[in-house]
Amino acid sequence: MRTNAFLGRDWISPELDYTKEEWESLIDLALDMKREFALNKDQSGVLKNQTLFSMFFNQSLRTRSTFAAGIQQLGGNYVELDPGKTYTPAREGFDIPYKTERIADVARMLSRVGDAIAIRMYGPPAYWIYGFANATMHEFAEYSDKPIINMECDMYHPCQALADMITVKEKFGGFKGVNFTMSFAYSGSIEKPRAVPQSVILAATKMGMNVTLAHPEGFELDPMIIEKCKEFAHQTEGSFKIINDFDEGFKDAHVVYPKSWGSTYCFNYHKDGKEVKKADHEMAEKVNEAAKGWCTTKKQMDLTDKNGIYMHCLPADRGQEVTDEVIDGPKSVVIDEAENRLHAHKAIMALLMGGRQ
Ligand code: CP
Repeated sequence: MRTNAFLGRDWISPELDYTKEEWESLIDLALDMKREFALNKDQSGVLKNQTLFSMFFNQSLRTRSTFAAGIQQLGGNYVELDPGKTYTPAREGFDIPYKTERIADVARMLSRVGDAIAIRMYGPPAYWIYGFANATMHEFAEYSDKPIINMECDMYHPCQALADMITVKEKFGGFKGVNFTMSFAYSGSIEKPRAVPQSVILAATKMGMNVTLAHPEGFELDPMIIEKCKEFAHQTEGSFKIINDFDEGFKDAHVVYPKSWGSTYCFNYHKDGKEVKKADHEMAEKVNEAAKGWCTTKKQMDLTDKNGIYMHCLPADRGQEVTDEVIDGPKSVVIDEAENRLHAHKAIMALLMGGRQ
């Protein structure tokens, strides 16, 4: 039997764990599958009778609908396990009698009867402790001998990042020489994960683009991720810089991705299981209020390259992050990105679950 290098692997932080060439393979496979889908080719033999279990600890439209549709288009079964209706999986020390069930037991049981476990967790179910949800996924991986798929945790959203790289490739044909700006944008909500900006800047530097990260003070991303971006930019001969000016990020950009994320004050920080810093909601309100001007309007879009595009993972806070004129305008590719979630997820499942051996 032939095998592939992806078979059985986890998809938790692939921005760090998968090579540039492996990302390119996934992008190419997703685009092949997208073309086949458009031609109505039967793909139902790819994962025939395989089962994907999903667990959403948070709300979702795009991720939920495209994983559900994707596995079924590949001939497999989709089983959604609703945390709270099942016994909620819990890490050691977070057990509640007859309400939660230790992850070790949940993961071992599910991996005996299914072929992959996909999880979304951030925010309140992870106590707003930065890194808690990511650690939860790693605990699942420790006990499951089937792939664990990260559908967004508090550090990474690799499924979104893959769909975004597919979209950039479709629009520009490749990555070299593409000026890509990930920018903060204002939202009325002070509590938001920073998984999307972190995954997207990692993927964009990994693919070799010229990446700018723009944000106001107080919205810094994880220093470990910033260091990785610098390393990737050096390896791929792209570039990476951080600025604190909103308009500057749009100048001559081919891709702008202005979206909100939580300030450094909205998280609790733990080290070795002990709290080292508490969330400070007063400061979170203060820095957020000061960032109210970071709303994308036509004025900013006019600063971009003539072929510049506006990206957003959705859902967007219209009127706060962006005007209707921009998100519904000619430079916006947000629905293309959302559509590409389907093809990204099909490529991930096909390779990790072994459809294309
Ligand atoms: N972008 C994204 O992950 O969308 P959902 O939250 O709707 O899944």
